[in-house]
Amino acid sequence: MTDRPAEFFEGTEMPAAGWWEALWPDPAGVLAAVGVKPGMEVIDLCSGDGWFTLQIAKAARHVTAIDIDPCMLEVARHRLIESGVTNCDFVAGDAYELAKLTPRPADFVFMANAFHGVPDRPRLARAVRETLMPTGRFAIVNWHQRPREETMILGEPRGPKTELRLSPGQTIEAVESSGLKLAHLIEVPPYHYGAVFKQPA
Ligand SMILES: C[S@@+](CC[C@H](N)C(=O)[O-])C[C@H]1O[C@@H](n2cnc3c(N)ncnc32)[C@H](O)[C@@H]1O
Repeated sequence: MTDRPAEFFEGTEMPAAGWWEALWPDPAGVLAAVGVKPGMEVIDLCSGDGWFTLQIAKAARHVTAIDIDPCMLEVARHRLIESGVTNCDFVAGDAYELAKLTPRPADFVFMANAFHGVPDRPRLARAVRETLMPTGRFAIVNWHQRPREETMILGEPRGPKTELRLSPGQTIEAVESSGLKLAHLIEVPPYHYGAVFKQPA
């Protein structure tokens, strides 16, 4: 993307290929750990180049990949085509507008490596809640709140700048303000955690 729109979340540029794959050697394992299951209608929010989208498509009934950058969606589209996967729609748009971007309610919204850059996190969480089925889940995979110089991958510090990183507590507080409730919190080694939320009873 040459000119970033004002809506682009800070510190959420898709990294160059290479270290991302080294950091995420088992995207299917991450998805299983947060609870993506066969039969689910899933939204991959801020889907980037489709590294997780492909595995969601393989695991679930259908996935809608949403990203503000149409170029990223094109990369993702090609990744899925090359794998012969067809149960995915690609939608360009702003994550805050989620409810308008997806025609059907979701069983699961997956958001990896982007929540740290959202300026109004309660607003985003409300938008997600609106799209979720009563039994739906929202999983956020975030960098731990560690100094950037400590999160080394392939010999270099990686990830968003230290000041943008959120603790699990900060993430939970922001999302629970929407009415969603924490269902479970997991470690995603080496540098991430996953917070999974559900609709209130
Ligand atoms: C760091 S990448 C992560 C991609 C993918 N989730 C992953 O973990 O491999 C974050 C993505 O968020 C997208 N993004 C940034 N601001 C956005 C917004 N306002 N609405 C939707 N997507 C956005 C960027 O274009 C980028 O592709």
